[in-house]
Amino acid sequence: MSKRTVLTGITTTGSPHLGNYVGAIKPCIQASHQSDVQSCYFLADYHALIKCREPEVVQQSTLEIAATWLALGLDTDKALFYRQSDIPEISELTWLLTCVTAKGLMNRAHAYKATVQDNITAGEDPDFATTMGLFSYPILMAADILMFNANSVPVGRDQIQHIEMARDIAQRFNHHFGQHFVLPEAVVDDNVAVLPGRDGRKMSKSYNNTIPLWLPEKKLRKFIMKIVTNSLEPGEPKQTEDSALFAIYSAFADASQREDMKQSFASGIGWGDVKQQCFELINDELAAARSSYEELLAEPARIEARLLEGAQRAREITLPFMQQLRSAVGIRNLAECGIN
Ligand code: TRP
Repeated sequence: MSKRTVLTGITTTGSPHLGNYVGAIKPCIQASHQSDVQSCYFLADYHALIKCREPEVVQQSTLEIAATWLALGLDTDKALFYRQSDIPEISELTWLLTCVTAKGLMNRAHAYKATVQDNITAGEDPDFATTMGLFSYPILMAADILMFNANSVPVGRDQIQHIEMARDIAQRFNHHFGQHFVLPEAVVDDNVAVLPGRDGRKMSKSYNNTIPLWLPEKKLRKFIMKIVTNSLEPGEPKQTEDSALFAIYSAFADASQREDMKQSFASGIGWGDVKQQCFELINDELAAARSSYEELLAEPARIEARLLEGAQRAREITLPFMQQLRSAVGIRNLAECGIN
């Protein structure tokens, strides 16, 4: 029996923050140790080009994100870990899929529609600053997923539509050219916390409320001290609901630590003490990995080598599959004319 394939991509823009860690990186790394699934995790650097035209940022971010996953103990013997641009079959498949994708389907993509709407609101041409990269983004993402015949794709809610589009595109291709693709499903884990940021809204680069993952210890403490609380004094009972600090603490705590903290809130622990405990908890979890991260960053050639190894293993899957797909659409060896 073949294993289920779980696949997800990480766009290489920006530096990882605690929200990425809790919401995506940590659960994926835990899953990478299971042997009943084939996990595929990749650095989506082609996707990065859609929103970023600064080569140094793309490169640096690829480096930092790769180092992050490796430092946190991703099991690269079990999981496939590669960089999208190292797999030329992905761009080749993107074209085959582009040729069966209805333009109308792409017109309905939320990200594209939002850009058009913003342009109209601003009194601009609807297509202002819209590239074909942005417009076709869901096709590239479909190629990422279908190339490995992924069954499940763990993503945030904002990405569900893209997985549905990948299914649509796969069905179209299968309909025309025979059963080649598995239909993927989005997996949105409601148990995985959406981490609030320092201001209580979802932790996100766009809200400028993140806590970077690899801050040195002192800075990490400073950032945690800046998490917004209310003005209740020590001794006054506090609510855990609506407390960003409690939510952040909880994301790192085990069940009994969480319960103890609830009790402390009820009996009036001071905000400063909660912050100190929160800092210690997070720092304990990250300290060892932080040293590995720093060592890895100092030797980027090692990271490059690990990625190339991953790509080589991934291409054992993608090369023969692409051959099959080329043949399916009629890109074939002419010497075999009349045989197929
Ligand atoms: N678009 C995804 C994001 O911004 C990243 C991504 C690219 C991805 N390709 C993928 C996620 C394939 C899942 C599967 O979060």
